Amino acid sequence: MADDFERVGSKLYAALARAHADDPIVAEIVGDHKPYWEGPLRLFGGVHYLELAGVVQHPWAKLRGVLEANRDWLTRFVAEHPVQTNEVQRCWGLLPGFLSVADGRPLDLVELGPSAGLNLFWDRYRYRYGEQTWGSSEAPLELSGEAEGGPPPALFSRRAGVRRRTGIDRRPVDVTTDHGARVLEAFVWADQVDRLERVRRAIEIARTDPPRLMEGDYVEVLPGLLAERDLDALTVVFHSASLMYLREEDRALVESALHEEGKRGSLAWVSYEYVASEALGFALEVQTWPGERRRLALLHGHGSSLEWIA
Ligand SMILES: C[S@@+](CC[C@H](N)C(=O)[O-])C[C@H]1O[C@@H](n2cnc3c(N)ncnc32)[C@H](O)[C@@H]1O
Repeated sequence: MADDFERVGSKLYAALARAHADDPIVAEIVGDHKPYWEGPLRLFGGVHYLELAGVVQHPWAKLRGVLEANRDWLTRFVAEHPVQTNEVQRCWGLLPGFLSVADGRPLDLVELGPSAGLNLFWDRYRYRYGEQTWGSSEAPLELSGEAEGGPPPALFSRRAGVRRRTGIDRRPVDVTTDHGARVLEAFVWADQVDRLERVRRAIEIARTDPPRLMEGDYVEVLPGLLAERDLDALTVVFHSASLMYLREEDRALVESALHEEGKRGSLAWVSYEYVASEALGFALEVQTWPGERRRLALLHGHGSSLEWIA
C-alpha cells in the first residue's frame, strides 16, 4: 500500500504506511481485516476523521501517540466504516457524455453508486477544457484537466436543464449530517488538499438541495425505477467507478434492463468505467435508443485527463 500511495499521489500516507507497516499497535487496531489493502485506508481515514472533528491536532507527525490514545475508537471506526469516496473531479470526465445525450428536454438523472451524490450536481459546476468552458462563471467550483483531441467545441454550446436527481447506493452517505460530511472528507487523503477543497465545495452545494438517495442494490432497484420514468423527460442513467465492481452476471442484468427500457425511448446511458485494454484505464461511453453504444473518450480514473476519440 505504501507503493500505491506513492504512485497515486500521497507522499504523507506512503511514508506513514512504510514507517508503521510492522507496528504491533496497527495490527491490534486493524486486526485481520480483509481485504488487507483496505486496512491502511480505513485506519488513515479514522485518524483523519479525528483531525477533522478537532479531537486531535496535527496527528500525522505523532501518529503512534494518536493510535495509542484513540485505540478503541479507531478499532471501531476501522471495523465499521468501509472506504467511501465521492470523486467530484470525475464530473469533468462525465460532462461531455451528458452534453452529447442532452436533447433539450428536462433531464431526470439516475446515478448508480453515487456514494454521497455529489456528482448528481454536475450541472452546477463550471468546467474548463483548454480554451473551452461550460457552466456559470459564478459557480462555486471549477473543474479542469488535461484534454487532448477534444471534446468538440460545438458540444459546449449545449445547455442542460436538470429536473430530478436520484441515486441508488448500498451505503449512501448523507452529507446533510456533520458525521456524513466528515466521513466523506476523512477518506480523502490528508495531504491531497485540492481534492479536499473540491469535496467541501460540492458538499456545500449538495446541502442546499439534497438529492434523493435510495439505499439498496441498484441491480435490483433500477428496473422498477426505469419502468416508472416520465417519458416526457429524458432519463439519464449514469455511473462512474461503480459497475466495474459488479460480478459479470450482475453487470449483464443492469445492461439488459437499460436495453429493454431503452426501446421505450426517453432514455440515455452515460458510463465512466474501467476498461482493461486502454492505457488511461477508463472510458467514457454513451448510448441512446435507437442507436449503438459509442465510446467518446479515454479517461484517467480520477478524471484528471482525457483523450477524445469519437
Ligand atoms: C468507488 S465508489 C464511486 C462513487 C461515485 N460514483 C464516484 O465516482 O465518486 C462506488 C460506489 O458504488 C456503490 N455500489 C457498488 N455496487 C453497488 C450496487 N450493486 N448497488 C448499489 N451501490 C453499489 C458503493 O456503495 C460506492 O458508493
